[in-house]
Parts: sequence; C-alpha cells; structure tokens
Amino acid sequence: MSIELKHVNYVYSQGTAFQHTALQDVSLKIQDHEFVALVGHTGCGKSTLVQHLNGLLKPTSGQVLINGEDIHGEHTNRKALRQRVGLVFQYPEYQLFEESVEKDIAFGPKNMGLPEDEIHRRVIAAMEMVHLDPARLAAVNPFELSGGQMRRVAIAGILAMQPEILVMDEPAAGLDPQGRDAILGIIRDLHQTGTTIIMVSHAMDDIADLATRIVVMNHGQIAMDGTPREVFCRADVMREAGLEITEAARLAGTLRERGLPVPEDIYTQEEIRDAILRLWKEKVHAQ
Ligand SMILES: Nc1ncnc2c1ncn2[C@@H]1O[C@H](COP(=O)(O)OP(=O)(O)OP(=O)(O)O)[C@@H](O)[C@H]1O
Ligand SMILES: [Mg+2]
Repeated sequence: MSIELKHVNYVYSQGTAFQHTALQDVSLKIQDHEFVALVGHTGCGKSTLVQHLNGLLKPTSGQVLINGEDIHGEHTNRKALRQRVGLVFQYPEYQLFEESVEKDIAFGPKNMGLPEDEIHRRVIAAMEMVHLDPARLAAVNPFELSGGQMRRVAIAGILAMQPEILVMDEPAAGLDPQGRDAILGIIRDLHQTGTTIIMVSHAMDDIADLATRIVVMNHGQIAMDGTPREVFCRADVMREAGLEITEAARLAGTLRERGLPVPEDIYTQEEIRDAILRLWKEKVHAQ
C-alpha cells in the first residue's frame, strides 16, 4: 500500500492572528516495506505531517493519496483507512484510560466491530508482539506498569488493529535506555515481518541503525530525502536543518580534516571501526 503526499500545505488557525504555516509544498511517496525516519528541528512540522498520513489532519491545499486514491475524496472510508494506517502519538501512554491492559488494547478492535473471540485473539497477539506476558499482565491496571511498559500497551492497542503502515511519533522519547532498546527492538521486528514504518525521531544513531530512508524537514519543507548513507554524508545540509549526523560520521569528518584518508561515506560504528583499524595496520606495516 503506497502512501503519498502531493504538494501539501497546512496552515494552523488560518485567518486569525495565530495563523501559522506548518507545512509548505510537501511531496513525498512511501512504498510498501520502507522504514522511513522523519527528522527535523523542534517545530519544523513533523507531527503535523504524520497526522496527515491517516487523515487526522486535512491539507489546507494539496492531496494525500493511498494507493492513488485521495483520502479526503467523497467516497473514501476514512474509518477503515485509520485502521490500515496506525498512528502512535508522541507520549501515547497519556491516552491510556481503561482499567485493564486487555481492555485498553481491545478498544480499537472493538470499535472495528469485530467478534469477541477475534478481539481476544488480537489482544493476546498484540501483547506478545510488544513482549508483554498476557497471562501475567492482561488484567493489570496499565497505570501500575512502568513508563516503558505503558508505552508498549499503547503501541499494542494500535497493533491490535493490524495496520499495514505504522506511523510513530518519537516512540522512544523519554524512556530509560532499557525501555528505549525494548521499543526499538519491537519496531525493528515489525519492520522485518513486513510492516511499513514511518518513525519520527531525534536520535540519529538509532535511525542509522534502523531506517532504510531518511526524510529531513526544515521549517515545514523537505530539505533532503535519501538513504542513511546519502543523508549522513551531508553534514552541511543537516547542520543547516539544525541536526547532527551520527557519531561515526562526525568522527570520520574529524579524521579527514586532519588529513587521514577516511572514506567520505562512513556513518556506522562498524564502518568507522574498520576504517581506523585499516589505517592502523597500514601504519604498522609502513614502519
Ligand atoms: N494547534 C496548533 N495551532 C497553531 N500552531 C500549531 C499548532 N500545533 C502546532 N503548531 C505549530 O506548527 C509548527 C509545527 O508543529 P509540529 O508539532 O508539527 O512540529 P514538530 O516538528 O512535531 O516539533 P517537535 O519536534 O517539537 O515535536 C510549530 O511551529 C508549532 O508551534
Ligand atoms: Mg512533534
């Protein structure tokens, strides 16, 4: 299922003193099985953009197309669409409200009008996907869980609707390293089992590790769109957008500035480690 933004503009509070253009001529096409990371400085429009992907926000002008069909077209079933494109908000655990984990996760499938046994099956499967033990935790009040576990319950609630595309707004923000690793591991698994992922993130090293494509935003526009290798080699564009590159790419740049022959396109820890080892061996052999 492809999803496409075509010349999308979005203006908040149009016609008032608070008018603010959050998206400016944004065009973007995402194909099946991609893992797209959306990055950019605070306030550049990332959350506004992702809320267009499942029709929560309607472009002020321009179009959002799913499989070529305008989602704001007269005949589009937007409720069905929201189930196919699952959106996990920033800090989704604040939206938990039921008295048990099971009920919270069941909320979406119930709204879809599914039979009870199917809802139950989906709740169990979703809990397993996010590594929460159904036997131990289904009946527990979500507010008794840790922050990381609560976030996993919120994600399970979206997964239980079996979306084809999963859009996540800063899914690891505010978690401790262990909670963060757990969430990122789950997202990696979901991508590997075929779900298209669109993830907003500030953590360049996480993105370098996971994403197949990076879209860089700056002041409501797309500043760059490419593979992690293409994007992390452009420290200049990233800096202009108020962003860092990966630690490995930074170190490679520093070594080049000092005259060492380190390749231009290095951005992962393994690559920089190999490059340094190579330089070291050459130096030893030369002596
Ligand atoms: N409801 C609103 N009314 C008016 N302006 C808004 C509203 N929501 C967001 N904005 C403004 O639109 C711009 C884009 O906001 P958005 O939340 O999409 O940014 P973001 O990239 O997600 O930022 P962050 O990294 O802080 O989450 C910001 O300047 C923000 O102040
Ligand atoms: Mg945001």
